[in-house]
Amino acid sequence: MAPIVRKAVFPAAGLGTRFLPATKAQPKEMLPLVDKPIIQYGIEEAVSSGVDNIILVTGRGKNAIEDHFDVSMELETFLEARGKRDQLDEVRKISNLINFAYVRQGEPLGLGHAVLVTRVLVGEEPFAVILGDDVIDANPPAIKQLVDVFERYGGPVLAVERVPRDQISNYGVIAIEPTAHIGDGIYQVRDLVEKPAREDAPSDLAIIGRYVLTPDIFPALAATKSDGTGEIQLTNGLRELLRSRPIYACEVKGVRHDTGNKLGYLKAVVYFALRRPDLADQFATYLASLDLHAPAGKR
Ligand code: UTP
Repeated sequence: MAPIVRKAVFPAAGLGTRFLPATKAQPKEMLPLVDKPIIQYGIEEAVSSGVDNIILVTGRGKNAIEDHFDVSMELETFLEARGKRDQLDEVRKISNLINFAYVRQGEPLGLGHAVLVTRVLVGEEPFAVILGDDVIDANPPAIKQLVDVFERYGGPVLAVERVPRDQISNYGVIAIEPTAHIGDGIYQVRDLVEKPAREDAPSDLAIIGRYVLTPDIFPALAATKSDGTGEIQLTNGLRELLRSRPIYACEVKGVRHDTGNKLGYLKAVVYFALRRPDLADQFATYLASLDLHAPAGKR
């Protein structure tokens, strides 16, 4: 039987340049989707998938993430004194969610490097990697879908999604073994390419921000050279690992929002606002009142 996945790594040390100036002094992971920071969606997904330890990779300017998941005595005392029970429960729930450990990535040397710095904290066991930017509304939760595949096949599992050809060069892309379409949306990986040119992409199956990895990824990452931009890519580390063991891919069933870019972020805010019982009706009425056919700037 495959060992249990107890730990989840959240790389959150990137600079978030696509969201400047909002991210000059605050982490992009703390931008809210309605009233909940982006990263909390991912943490809640991990908790509901059976993970009991979170390892957050942070860097300069990311203290707000640590504060968010920590106990805030002043705030709790204030809410208690004012009798604001619901808000107090909400705030306490956040700090009681799960065990957190933090590790700093001195310099943002790439996603592969961010995973590599968790080596000592992860130790010799399988672990999940969750990129908080990808917020996935799914049941079962996205990372649980991967854990289930891992438990069945015992090897690393990557989440993939079919993306249109004109967007494929934004992603790591997999080639699959032609004979190894193992089951419903599950594949054996033959090769991986980071951000291929459209005409070189080996498929339309793009790697999205969920992985279940095994500890042998660490020596593979340590042996992976940085690319032309000076970063160590996780995709290239996985390619190295593929030389010594099978790797699997799983098409996740759910709705994914890439909140790391502005349009994806806006779509996610609308999507989650329309799922909130306290906001949905009024917000839908407002959206319906907009003249979406008017020229930009006059709607
Ligand atoms: P992105 O490619 O989205 O980069 O990283 P970024 O720096 O966060 O954002 P932009 O492109 O400048 O706007 C994907 C994930 O990998 C993490 C990021 O925090 C994000 O969760 N990451 C990336 C690291 O933790 N360290 C790195 O060196 C690079």
